Amino acid sequence: MGTPARTGAPVTLTVDGFPITVPEGTSVMRACAEAGIQVPKLCATDSVEAFGSCRLCVVEIEGRRGTPASCTTPVAEGMVVHTQSDKLRRMRKGVMELYISDHPLDCLTCAANGDCELQDMAGAVGLRDVRYKAPENGGLANHFAQRDGAGPNASYIPKDESNPYFTYDPSKCIVCSRCVRACEEVQGTFALTIEGRGFGSRVSAGAAGDDFMASDCVSCGACVQACPTATLQEKSVIELGTPERSVVTTCAYCGVGCNFKAE
Ligand code: FES
Repeated sequence: MGTPARTGAPVTLTVDGFPITVPEGTSVMRACAEAGIQVPKLCATDSVEAFGSCRLCVVEIEGRRGTPASCTTPVAEGMVVHTQSDKLRRMRKGVMELYISDHPLDCLTCAANGDCELQDMAGAVGLRDVRYKAPENGGLANHFAQRDGAGPNASYIPKDESNPYFTYDPSKCIVCSRCVRACEEVQGTFALTIEGRGFGSRVSAGAAGDDFMASDCVSCGACVQACPTATLQEKSVIELGTPERSVVTTCAYCGVGCNFKAE
């Protein structure tokens, strides 16, 4: 799997009835975007290779069985893509319902309120009610409770606040692995990984006590930028709120030590 490379000859396909021509190797998701159609997505982002894990970007392609992920499917000449149908709407809503069933419902007090892709996607698929609920004291709480000797069934998911610039709150993680891929592909550090399965799966810095500062993390901020929720959140945003104006630089608070100096 991965983002198909945009290398070759022009390919013409149809998306929801609109013809669009893109270079061979373009993903169906990107072709849809170039046709002005935004397919819901969570695990895909322009800065890292597509992974195909969230299954929110599913589409229907005439002549093909199933509902492939548009982010990892390359275009083909004459392809006819449908991004909207009752079946696709049901599937996307079901996926979002499962994500939200295991997510704190504290949007109004969350630092990412209004700047959260999970919140945006829940709205985009029309999710109003959630029929499921993750088990109280699920796998993630048990992992941390046992690690910290807080009892086998404690409802206990502590934040990692060891890094001076950002916090890591596992309870808000949707395990999309954007942070892991950003760490590898943008920074080349390989400090993060995914551990565990099901409700117990989580991003780990791989250091004792899951401590970001004790890991190979260089505080570049690539993971924070890639995070679609408030799982990895800048401390300045938590303390002061989302800035009204921001300046994009190469080195937000990078700890690599290349000695680049902004004038
Ligand atoms: Fe394509 Fe997540 S955005 S599977």
